[in-house]
Order: sequence, then C-alpha cells, then structure tokens
Amino acid sequence: KSLVKVGLLGFGTVGTGVYRIIQAHQEDLWKQTGLHIEIHRIFVKDIHKTRDISTPTNMLTTNIDDILHSDEIDVIVEVMGGIEQTKSYILTALEQKKHVITANKDLMALHGGEILSTARANNCDVFYEASVAGGIPILRALVEGLSSDRINKMMGIVNGTTNYMLSKMSKEGMDYQEVLAEAQALGYAESDPTADVEGFDAARKMAILSTLGFRVAMKLEEVDVKGISSVTKEDIAYGKSLGYELKLLGIAERSDSKIEVSVQPTMIHKSHPLASVHDVFNAVYIYGDAVGETMFYGPGAGELPTATSVVSDLVTVVKNMKLGTNGLGVVAPYVEKQLKSDEE
Ligand code: NDP
Ligand code: HSE
Repeated sequence: KSLVKVGLLGFGTVGTGVYRIIQAHQEDLWKQTGLHIEIHRIFVKDIHKTRDISTPTNMLTTNIDDILHSDEIDVIVEVMGGIEQTKSYILTALEQKKHVITANKDLMALHGGEILSTARANNCDVFYEASVAGGIPILRALVEGLSSDRINKMMGIVNGTTNYMLSKMSKEGMDYQEVLAEAQALGYAESDPTADVEGFDAARKMAILSTLGFRVAMKLEEVDVKGISSVTKEDIAYGKSLGYELKLLGIAERSDSKIEVSVQPTMIHKSHPLASVHDVFNAVYIYGDAVGETMFYGPGAGELPTATSVVSDLVTVVKNMKLGTNGLGVVAPYVEKQLKSDEE
C-alpha cells in the first residue's frame, strides 16, 4: 500500500491548516514516511458554508458514517471540538481500527484514560500533541526528551488567547472586550471563549501536562482555577509601573506528599523570561532533578502552528503503520491504567 487515507473531522481554523500543510508539504511527508498522505473525506456541520479553501467535489460530508465506517480510511484527525459526541466518534473510530489524532484538550483532560485504553485494546495510536501549547512539541518533550528525568515543577503560559489579550492590554492599552474580539477573529479562541478567559482551557492543559510530566493520573477537578475576566487594563498598567507583567500562569508542583496544580493571573517580574512571552506565544518552564531548568517557547494557537503539531502526529502514526508498532501510545502504561480506573 502506498497511500494513507485520512478522515478529517472539522474544517475550521485547525482543520484548514491541516489540509494546507498536507497539500504543501506532501514531498517532505513522503520523504519521511515513504507513503503518500491524502485527506479522503471531511466531516463538517454545514456543507454549504463559504470557505476560504476549495476542496474536490464530494470531499465534504455531514454524515459521520462516511468516515467512521469507510474501509478506505486509516486515520481520523479530530479537529471539531466538543466532548460527548466527539468522544463517541473517537471510540467508534478506534473500534473500527482507525488511528486517531486530536487537538481536543477538553476531551483528553476528561476522558483521556478511556480513549487511550480503547486505543491500546485495538492496537491503534492516539496522539494529541496539539492539545497543549499549539505549535510547541511539549508533550513529546515530556514523554520522550525528558523521560529519563524526575520532573518536580512546571510553570507555563499555555493559553494563547489570554496571553494575546493581556499583551495587547499591556502594550497598547486596549480594552478587554475589544481585544477578546480580535483574538476570536484570529482563530485563537475556543468556540465559547469562556473556556479561555475563565482559565478552564489552561486548566485542562495543565492537567494533561501534569499527567504526562509527573506520571500520575491528574484529575481536572483538582486544578485550582481563576481566569482573567475581572482583570482591567488599569491593573495591568499598575503592575507595569512597578516592573511586572500580568500573565495567566499555570503552575504544577509536586512535593513528597502531594501534587498541586493551579491556573491564575500572576504578576511576573520583567526580569523573568516568562514576562517576555507576548501575543499568542506560549512557554512552558520545566524543572527536572537532573536537567535543571528548561523552557519551551512557541506559538500557542492559530491555524498553521497548531496544524503543524497535528500533522507531526500524523507522520508518527504513518511511521508506526510501516513498522507495525501502532498502539504503544505516549503515556506510561501504569498511568493509563490509573486514568482508566478513574473513569469506571
Ligand atoms: P473551529 O470552530 O474553527 O472549527 C470547528 C470545525 O468543526 C468546523 O469546520 C465545524 O463545521 C466542525 N464542527 C463543529 N461541530 C460539529 C458537529 N457537531 N458536527 C460536524 N462538524 C462540526 O474550531 P478550531 O479549528 O479552532 O478548533 C478545533 C479543535 O482544535 C478544538 O478542539 C480546539 O480546542 C482545538 N484547538 C484549537 C486551536 C486553535 O488555535 N484554534 C489550537 C489548539 C487546539 P463547519 O465548518 O461546518 O461549521
Ligand atoms: N483557545 C486556545 C488558546 C487554543 O487560546 O490557547 C489553543 O489550544
């Protein structure tokens, strides 16, 4: 077989980016995998919507069975968002022996255990690099690059929308509502931006980072969350006059007895590298026993940066298909078991 066929669920900001990257980087993808990757069908809500990218006739569908029950499709890329319905699509896809890539942190933070163990039972891959910090390959860094270390603390700016908002309020004195509308127009915000501004999106990402970094099953409800909805440009200007930048900061820390994870607006002194993370950029600071301090930095949201992570996952899935190593996953097996038992 020389062709891998992909079913795309969602053709909005991220889905469009995935489509564009697969078209534009076809040769590079082939050089790495030895196989051609093709988007076969795309599941959308409204087939008549005007889109800024044209697709071959009949590629779009509103019938999920065209994808989940197609014998031709090997891999599902889920970039539609949502929780319950989307979870059932993903579980069906796995039962149909299709590998899954998702950018959906809401889903992975809540139901990651069940999804990963269903994948394992069906010898399928599930990868979700884009779910945390958009274009930064942070999950691979934790699971592969730092697998030898014991991580004690992670500190991150992991929501692009709020960082964009706080930066514009700080640098240009813009109003909260005006700058939120800009972040939405740029495709950074969730369909309901409450998740961004109230800190829930960042909390989901910190739960995923904690699960992978500390190798425990971190429960979302244990994350302490406060968002930026009551922050004013005057608060930001006051902090700035004292040499501080206001950031929505996620902190995950473990001691011998417990793990504490929080998300809250925090004044960071301008001498700290996290104070210089502006606009839609994200950064994650990791403290490991052996490595010391490392910082990962890059675009945290948006069409092409996010799609880069999604398509990189796709390359891994396709390489695994060639090697016959699908289903080995990216989470330590015992964490997966803990996550699964929490669901039951
Ligand atoms: P968009 O709102 O831009 O796109 C969603 C797409 O999914 C649309 O094409 C929509 O169809 C389709 N869709 C939504 N609900 C349904 C449904 N019930 N049935 C069929 N199709 C549906 O979302 P994004 O691309 O911004 O985000 C997608 C996912 O990626 C989310 O999980 C988000 O959290 C995650 N993500 C987003 C990032 C970003 O920067 N935007 C970054 C990292 C992760 P139609 O086009 O017909 O309306
Ligand atoms: N709404 C999210 C953000 C998208 O702004 O960070 C990326 O996960």
